[in-house]
Amino acid sequence: MGRRKSLCCGLSAREATLAVLFVLMTGVCVTLITLMVTQADTDPKPTVAPTSEPHRTPYLIGVGRADCTGPPAEIPLMGYANPQQNAAGIHTRLYSRAFIIDDGRKRVLFVTAEVGMISQRLRLEVLQALQVKYGDLYRQDNVVLSGTHTHCGLGGFFQYTLFMISSKGYIKASVEPLVNGILKSIDIAHGNLRPGRIYRSRGELDDSSLNRSPHSYLNNPEDERLRYKWNTDKQVVVLKFTDLDGDGVGMLSWFAVHAVSMNYTNLMVSSDNMGYASYLLEQEKNPGELPGQGGFVAGFSSSNLGDVSPNTRGPLCMNTGLPCDYLNSSCPVGGTKMCKAFGPGDDMFDSTRIIGQNIYRKAKELYATAAEEVTGFLHYAHQWVNMTDVTVQINDTHTVSTCKPALGHSFAAGTTDGGGDLNFTQGAVEGDPFWDGIRDALLGEPSNETQECHQPKPILFNTGEMNWPLPWHPQIVDVQIITIGSVAVVAVPGEMTTMSGRRLREAVKQELQSEGAFSDTEVVIAGLSNIYTHYITTYEEYQVQRYEGASTIYGPHTLSAYLQKYRGLARAIAQDRVSELPVGPQPPFFEKNLFNLLSAAPVDKKPENSSFGDVLQQVYPIYRQGDVVQVTFVAGNPRHSGDMRDKTFVTVEIYDNRTNTWEVVHNDASWETRFHWLKGSNRQSNSTIEWHIPQSASSGSYRIRNFGHYKEMKGLRPVITPYEGTSDVFTVTRSFYYQ
Ligand SMILES: *[C@@H]1O[C@H](CO)[C@@H](O)[C@H](O)[C@H]1NC(C)=O
Ligand SMILES: *[C@@H]1O[C@H](CO)[C@@H](O)[C@H](O)[C@H]1NC(C)=O
Ligand SMILES: *[C@@H]1O[C@H](CO)[C@@H](O)[C@H](O)[C@H]1NC(C)=O
Ligand SMILES: *[C@@H]1O[C@H](CO)[C@@H](O)[C@H](O)[C@H]1NC(C)=O
Ligand SMILES: *[C@@H]1O[C@H](CO)[C@@H](O)[C@H](O)[C@H]1NC(C)=O
Ligand SMILES: *[C@@H]1O[C@H](CO)[C@@H](O)[C@H](O)[C@H]1NC(C)=O
Ligand SMILES: *[C@@H]1O[C@H](CO)[C@@H](O)[C@H](O)[C@H]1NC(C)=O
Ligand SMILES: *[C@@H]1O[C@H](CO)[C@@H](O)[C@H](O)[C@H]1NC(C)=O
Ligand SMILES: *[C@@H]1O[C@H](CO)[C@@H](O)[C@H](O)[C@H]1NC(C)=O
Repeated sequence: MGRRKSLCCGLSAREATLAVLFVLMTGVCVTLITLMVTQADTDPKPTVAPTSEPHRTPYLIGVGRADCTGPPAEIPLMGYANPQQNAAGIHTRLYSRAFIIDDGRKRVLFVTAEVGMISQRLRLEVLQALQVKYGDLYRQDNVVLSGTHTHCGLGGFFQYTLFMISSKGYIKASVEPLVNGILKSIDIAHGNLRPGRIYRSRGELDDSSLNRSPHSYLNNPEDERLRYKWNTDKQVVVLKFTDLDGDGVGMLSWFAVHAVSMNYTNLMVSSDNMGYASYLLEQEKNPGELPGQGGFVAGFSSSNLGDVSPNTRGPLCMNTGLPCDYLNSSCPVGGTKMCKAFGPGDDMFDSTRIIGQNIYRKAKELYATAAEEVTGFLHYAHQWVNMTDVTVQINDTHTVSTCKPALGHSFAAGTTDGGGDLNFTQGAVEGDPFWDGIRDALLGEPSNETQECHQPKPILFNTGEMNWPLPWHPQIVDVQIITIGSVAVVAVPGEMTTMSGRRLREAVKQELQSEGAFSDTEVVIAGLSNIYTHYITTYEEYQVQRYEGASTIYGPHTLSAYLQKYRGLARAIAQDRVSELPVGPQPPFFEKNLFNLLSAAPVDKKPENSSFGDVLQQVYPIYRQGDVVQVTFVAGNPRHSGDMRDKTFVTVEIYDNRTNTWEVVHNDASWETRFHWLKGSNRQSNSTIEWHIPQSASSGSYRIRNFGHYKEMKGLRPVITPYEGTSDVFTVTRSFYYQ
């Protein structure tokens, strides 16, 4: 990876301080050094409240990226909860991106991973591995893990029953690449920590998001709504990381939009629109590198995207082209499933490209112009909270409480980004005798107390009272804030709606500034962080019970409870009393009763007289830029390939006639390639590889290769053997001529 000054490896806070000192000795301002040393040595009780001002020395900054793609076959994709949507190939690979910042006194680590969400299980496994490797350096309080919310990553990394059911269980083969990929990104960031600077910038991005539950949004108080121009947040916040020479090493940004440009008919693993934004910026900043390589790391993190769709043409009835019902998003014929939002592109790839490109362009512009330096110390505050019984004082006379988790009827309706299969509709505030009967027979009737608590939500899944074979939903939830000088990152355990996010940012900002410090703090929400608890709407939105309200699992006062908790964290930071915060009840790490419904991948068969890797459908001899090359090989099940991180199932290669060698121009992480795995009957399967030749492709001679493994029985022993296949050589040329 790129140019690297040799500061690295396992710095403790004290060593880091010395390292910063060393760098400073060679140049600048001794007074501040002294100040810092004093801070560092007289451990954390300064007489004044902490501020974002005194620390003008550089931070230590480390950035890292690593592949976290699991086996792209047969494992359910996590997001739409569509039982038909099991992985079958790769559109783009998934990466974890890590950013470590150290002020010589404290250290924070922020990870944005291309995954549906961070689950409690995933976080606990990552934290355990960090403990083994780094001791107490990276802990639950100074590490934030956030997911980009792509709906085309693998599932199977949960320990609560509801999620296990929807992703065929707890699947080791899916968990390990995720944990190891996240760890590797952290290792890389840790290994290249060096002095640098941070700049922040903020702008607005239009035409890339749409509120998908405007009816809920409109239930928020009018005077509150009038303070905002839009019913989604348009801001993009960018942090630019440079070394001391001012050369960029990385970028981290936040924008609120669902990564659901790829719809539920897609079966390929894909990082969707947010991933494509990362891809574009990294390709640009790492010229000549294949995707996933090169030192510059560009993270695009999720935010308060709960009610925000990227499908900007909005919902229509797919069968008639007419608008869906505004209140319940259903169609006269076909119901909920038929109502689907589209755009802005002609198909889902085009939509992914356009939204990804929009986000990338805005971030790139903000990165290029970022001039406001972020200075000041780092702080962090974290608590575990039992979300089932948080009491909130809402006014002088009334207290309210959160509930045991439950999902409402409208949860099963899904959204206009992907509706449910059954006859549920959004906005249901009354149960349905038919479904309630099935629920009571299969799962048991919710207690009166829980039904009361969730009013007006009619309960469909009474998850808080279902514990077999493991609890269906979590009780213990992480709340966490990290501050980097004048930037506060609020790690939110789920999907906050636009207005929920606004209230939270405002509350945190108010508390941070209450002590006179932290003036002009930029507060960002990092969504899908640390643990997944579905949605968090405002109390008013909850009353409407569209999908987001029905999925606000701790009841109508969920947001109020979080506001109280995050205010507490922010106040503790502002008053420098974080150490007085109760740690809270530790979340469980289940060892028993995790289940896996995904059977082992069977042996592979191939057509008679063929070998694995043989071409079944050949390329044409000549193509032009803009064409699509397609080739089909006899394949094995990709699950037999095991851990394919940092490897590829596909290469597109150009012949270099000066050196007489083949040079790889694309792999399966490339936007231009699509790797489809097609499972047939009788255990035979094909891989069909497409190369969408970009206009920028050089003319020349090319070939496409496919790599994989197949399983066969040798006697009673299963044996796994690698294979590769190669297409005929074909020509890409601007002028079409025949030889
Ligand atoms: C949706 O609401 C409309 C009225 O706005 C109603 O006519 C229709 O029956 C509802 N659809 C369903 C499936 O509940
Ligand atoms: C998904 O996208 C494909 C095109 O890419 C389109 O044909 C299909 O109708 C879309 N389906 C849904 C449910 O959005
Ligand atoms: C959370 O609180 C509920 C209600 O007080 C209690 O029954 C439950 O045991 C608590 N959960 C944990 C894990 O402490
Ligand atoms: C406090 O809130 C409750 C419930 O929303 C409401 O009924 C009551 O009028 C409020 N009291 C005051 C003093 O605002
Ligand atoms: C859903 O379907 C069931 C069975 O067909 C029916 O009994 C029930 O009334 C339907 N519910 C709605 C809201 O249409
Ligand atoms: C709820 O309360 C009603 C009457 O108030 C009672 O008949 C019913 O059995 C209760 N249900 C449960 C699940 O406790
Ligand atoms: C396979 O090869 C053998 C020997 O060349 C030949 O006799 C047979 O017909 C072939 N079978 C098929 C299905 O092509
Ligand atoms: C594999 O490709 C061959 C040749 O194109 C085709 O006949 C066969 O149906 C394909 N099998 C699958 C599972 O798609
Ligand atoms: C080598 O490739 C270039 C570009 O495709 C072509 O112009 C040139 O004629 C080739 N030279 C030979 C010796 O094939």
